[in-house]
Amino acid sequence: MPTTVSDALIITIDGPAGTGKSTVAAGLARRLGLARLDTGAMYRTVALIAVRAQIDPADTPALLAALAAHELYFDCTVDPPVMSLDGEDVEPHIRSARIGEVVSEIAAVPEIRRAMVHMQQATARAHPRLVSEGRDQGSVVFPDAQVRFYLTADPNERVRRRVAQLEADGASVDAAKVAAEIDHRDALDAGRDTSPLRCPDGAVEVDTTGMSIDDVIDALERTVRETVGSAC
Ligand code: DC
Repeated sequence: MPTTVSDALIITIDGPAGTGKSTVAAGLARRLGLARLDTGAMYRTVALIAVRAQIDPADTPALLAALAAHELYFDCTVDPPVMSLDGEDVEPHIRSARIGEVVSEIAAVPEIRRAMVHMQQATARAHPRLVSEGRDQGSVVFPDAQVRFYLTADPNERVRRRVAQLEADGASVDAAKVAAEIDHRDALDAGRDTSPLRCPDGAVEVDTTGMSIDDVIDALERTVRETVGSAC
């Protein structure tokens, strides 16, 4: 049976890096049978376009021209979802240190944000039962989402998690450098003029310090089921 508007269920998860958002969003989407949107992957793909074309992130006209020349597509119909650029699955390229260095600067450009928000809302129209994860999903992109979460964690724990993740990916890691990068990214994401990182009004704030990923998914699932009942 086709999905109707009345079946729509949007859940947003926002928060800074290292709070486990992506893993939690994936787990929650699986448990509830919802599609998942990783909006950070979209900004990372724009950063990949800029890096490949050697565009200065401060050169907004060049960034916009490059964005217009490519096709970005987020495929929610597969698990895990696939972010593609002109048909290429870019997942192997968008998590690199180089992309991490430029993505926050690119995500601060209002015109780029406008284009991404448009794409995110179009994705939700096509997949109205969705967990969407990012920095502005509950505050700007889906302010009417049925359930909005904001995840936080103690800064030291966020660094530990990020180091563990990088080491699991086979990287050799300097924890002090990781801490400095997280601080820098937080400052850019929370300090920008357009859609800065904020706890959305009415969001359920979850401090994930000391919680396992499964504990966090359990807590969010409970809240969703209590809030929307039979809608999930
Ligand atoms: O969640 P992430 O690390 O993949 O995000 C990459 C960058 O994109 C990070 O600097 C925050 C930014 N971002 C954003 O500004 N808005 C979003 N909705 C998602 C990510």
